[in-house]
Amino acid sequence: MDSLAVNAPVITLDGPGGAGKGTVSMRLAQALGWHLLDSGALYRLVGLAAEQQGVALDDEPALSLLAEHLDVQFLTGQDDLVQVVLAAKDVSHELRTERVGGLASQVAVLDGVRNALLTRQRNFAVLPGLICDGRDMGTVVFPNAPLKIYLTASADERAKRRLEQLRSKGVAAKLCDLKNDILERDARDMNRATAPLKPAKDALQVDSTQLSITQVVDLILAKAKSQGLVS
Ligand code: DC
Repeated sequence: MDSLAVNAPVITLDGPGGAGKGTVSMRLAQALGWHLLDSGALYRLVGLAAEQQGVALDDEPALSLLAEHLDVQFLTGQDDLVQVVLAAKDVSHELRTERVGGLASQVAVLDGVRNALLTRQRNFAVLPGLICDGRDMGTVVFPNAPLKIYLTASADERAKRRLEQLRSKGVAAKLCDLKNDILERDARDMNRATAPLKPAKDALQVDSTQLSITQVVDLILAKAKSQGLVS
């Protein structure tokens, strides 16, 4: 089946890490009762599986195979929290660590890995609709999506948000280290040859530096309504 031909409406959210895409996407999916695709989790899973199986992060053929055959389940609990199970092990928390984010960013530069994940991602586009977040949702994975958002925030603000998030979990970190990590990952995501992070030509650009999550969600819902995507 050509999954690009699926009629389910899709709203894409792309942008650099820490701009709020994950939280905004979850809220949108809850508000609309639509499906949710956290595409970054797929790249994180490939990075983590590679580490677990001792596959080198530049071994493109082996990593592509790993991506194609990922033994993963996304289980939604009563509280709407998604539990990610990789090879029968709950990796939900490990997946969100900076370490695994770094692994993901490295495997994400490889064409073979990106191609292997393409169909898996497109298969999420089923009725009543899909909210998806990542780096290339609007440019590559769902180029025909009727509403595309490119969500940004300044690197300082993103580092501050990440620090607060880590502190709330009791994890110590330094603002300057977090900002350096963010800039390094931005550079890798924006400068890679395949599917680099950039706004789709028809994307609405939203700078969340001065906006709350609720303001961003409301803005996107209003846009979706004005386009007749939701009632
Ligand atoms: O959004 P995130 O932090 O979970 O993403 C982890 C890494 O995966 C990020 O550095 C870039 C990569 N990624 C990607 O290349 N394409 C996507 N659609 C999603 C994530």
